[in-house]
Amino acid sequence: MDFSLSEKQKMLKNVTRKFAEEFIVPAARESDEKQELDDTVFQRMKGMNFFGSCIPEEYGGAGLHNDSIGFCVVIEEIARGDAAWGITTAVHNGVVAYPIYKFGTEDQKQKFLIDLAKGNKIGAFCLTEANAGSDAGGVQLTAVKDGDEYILNGTKIFATSGGIAKTLLVVAKTGEKDSRKKMTVFIVDSNTPGYSVGVKEDKMGVRASNTSELVFQDVRVPQENILGNSGEGFKMAMKILDFGRIGIAAQCVGLGQAALEASIKYANERVQFNKPIGKFQAIQWKIADMSCAIEAARLFTYKAAYLHDTGSDFGMASAMAKLVSSEAAMQAAHSAVQIHGGYGLMKAYPVERYFRDAKMGEIYEGTSEIQRLVIAANLLRKGA
Ligand code: CAA
Repeated sequence: MDFSLSEKQKMLKNVTRKFAEEFIVPAARESDEKQELDDTVFQRMKGMNFFGSCIPEEYGGAGLHNDSIGFCVVIEEIARGDAAWGITTAVHNGVVAYPIYKFGTEDQKQKFLIDLAKGNKIGAFCLTEANAGSDAGGVQLTAVKDGDEYILNGTKIFATSGGIAKTLLVVAKTGEKDSRKKMTVFIVDSNTPGYSVGVKEDKMGVRASNTSELVFQDVRVPQENILGNSGEGFKMAMKILDFGRIGIAAQCVGLGQAALEASIKYANERVQFNKPIGKFQAIQWKIADMSCAIEAARLFTYKAAYLHDTGSDFGMASAMAKLVSSEAAMQAAHSAVQIHGGYGLMKAYPVERYFRDAKMGEIYEGTSEIQRLVIAANLLRKGA
């Protein structure tokens, strides 16, 4: 078992870290306050091909479709700079662009994937509704067949990047009125008449990442925009989330790493009782625990990525990675604020933002409780 990154992955890590420190970190606080991603950073990220990270070069991507550990390294470093950019990039790649690459027709790839990979268009994954959160099977947005088209009606909420997205993956109900889980996933262009962006959410964390309500009123979508097979959308959504959760896990690892590094720096600089606070065991133990939790989370994440790339069953591993990483990031951010004391509560220090950002990771793309449910269901299905 080799735990080292390949030369290519090390290079990706260094290049992304340098980029994040130069461009993402300086903009993070203002973006959080304005609740908006910085456009200059966005243009530079496009130039770095981050929006096509896990898409092959032939479709305009960076070619990490067979190197999910490399993809994780990129997301980790972006999130170490700003978790809001981490989630934006992870969601765009993991639950929109990659599923179109993996499950889409050649025509769909030509029509939608190239623009996504190049960052010309941002993607959103539209599953959650007011009454279908953890219970993804309860989707009520309907798609009714009309000749060669489907007519979509309903409202999605909490869509990451929803307000800025131009390409949407929409999970719709295509079965009878009271049938659960008879669903279909549609690729929808935001220019389609009847589609509009509703309320933009005012969130606790990752505030720069856009989270919006999306309204579909008689939106006509051609049947060639179905991703996968009609009626199999629930399983498709589950498969999409299986991969997506690896990206979220990587985002949490990057955020936890940032909290750890800020704490080490502060512990070495802050003097109380005539010595740096890092000389006190109370602080040392926190730093040791943070470091162990983040390292474990990183290994869980890379393992899930490895299983994905080697064609193994990776759904349980990705749920484990997402659970462990989001909880490690929360623990690290919590300790980071505590280590910073009163300064940890102030916006002048980034740990205040890390704390708010970390809480989000335990909730989006499936709460910690849902990850535990997925893990237990897998174990119980397999038996002893
Ligand atoms: N891959 C393939 N098939 C799967 C699957 C998977 N990972 N998981 C389940 N299935 C299949 C099952 O085998 C079953 O198939 P059969 O009917 O043929 O037996 C079928 O799907 C139904 O499965 P369950 O009975 O297990 O379904 P459930 O209703 O109990 O729900 C759940 C399971 C795991 C709780 C699911 O509802 C779930 O994942 N919920 C959380 C949803 C979620 O993560 N939401 C976040 C959305 S995105 C977001 O946060 C914002 C954003 O912008 C990114």
